[in-house]
Amino acid sequence: MALLHGGQLAVIAQQYQIPESDWLDLSTGIAPFSYPVIDIPLPVWQQLPTISTTLIEVAKQYYQAEHCWPLAGSQQLIEQLPQLWLNKISADNKIIAKHVYLPKVGYKEHQQAWQQAGFELHFYQQQLPSDIIENSVVVVINPNNPNNDRFSIQQLCVLQQQCKKQQALLVIDEAFADIFPTDFSFVQQLNDGQGNNEDVIILRSIGKFFGLAGLRIGFVCSSQSWCEIIKQRIGPWSINGAALYITEQALNDTQWQQTQIIRLQQQSHSQYQILKQYFPHCRIETNALFNTVYSTDAASIHRRLCQQAIYVRLTDENDALRFGIADQLQLERLQYLLSELFQENKI
Ligand SMILES: Cc1ncc(COP(=O)(O)O)c(C=O)c1O
Repeated sequence: MALLHGGQLAVIAQQYQIPESDWLDLSTGIAPFSYPVIDIPLPVWQQLPTISTTLIEVAKQYYQAEHCWPLAGSQQLIEQLPQLWLNKISADNKIIAKHVYLPKVGYKEHQQAWQQAGFELHFYQQQLPSDIIENSVVVVINPNNPNNDRFSIQQLCVLQQQCKKQQALLVIDEAFADIFPTDFSFVQQLNDGQGNNEDVIILRSIGKFFGLAGLRIGFVCSSQSWCEIIKQRIGPWSINGAALYITEQALNDTQWQQTQIIRLQQQSHSQYQILKQYFPHCRIETNALFNTVYSTDAASIHRRLCQQAIYVRLTDENDALRFGIADQLQLERLQYLLSELFQENKI
């Protein structure tokens, strides 16, 4: 079943009978400033895509990884991981324990993938799981989307030790981690040279921070053996040449990355101030890629925002609204539309 995320503006525009061009669309956590898409040389389109050693070297440097491999978006591996893990468990002659620990709130594609593979779901909230069943799977989203929950390296190390003891697979989804300093990521912990972190899989996305979700590219950072399994599984051409070409430039462009983080932080902060002004009693979780406003009235506020052509993401729990970060023009429009709504007492 297709899950609802942000985006898909056409659907919501149709529902509210407002032309797509009239909407202020802040429904995703994708940066409003995209890495500039440079002229792409003709051979990149003409030839079959090649995953070059230079791209891998650039990605290793950016992620501080010993081993990594590109994916057609981190979503590609989220969907394939249950089968890969089951194959690995049976190849190692281990008992198959179809148990997975997932954050109660978070990107629901993880849950769907494991559920469809017949895994029993165990949910945790705020605290990472501590009593892990042998050969099971633990999924962590860090930072979490949409509640912005974060786990420290120390907390993740404790979890990783438990997973290792129980021969469990640890999956850490860091799709939004680029907005934090490099030492926020668990990737560097994989480089202990002892193979202690064999069954840890870290997912990274190019879509969010670089504002290029349509390019469909992300990375997995893991052990050499997992990278090899994944490489074999996804085959030689699932990531298109243009995506590989642009990503190599983007990961290399540290100056652009520094500018990006500063302007995202500034825009997020300004947006937070506006939201605080209109929702003074609501808890707002904020990072450089989204602001999430908690309210018991979230569903009805969402409806009224939509009537005003402001499209944000109503959480699956119907308890909050996630505002993606607006650029300056969008922010001015957001402020104007919110002021109109409040003047008319529609909220
Ligand atoms: C937490 C999280 N992980 C992974 C993804 C998938 O991203 P992509 O496939 O574009 O890398 C998303 C998309 O919204 C997400 O929110």
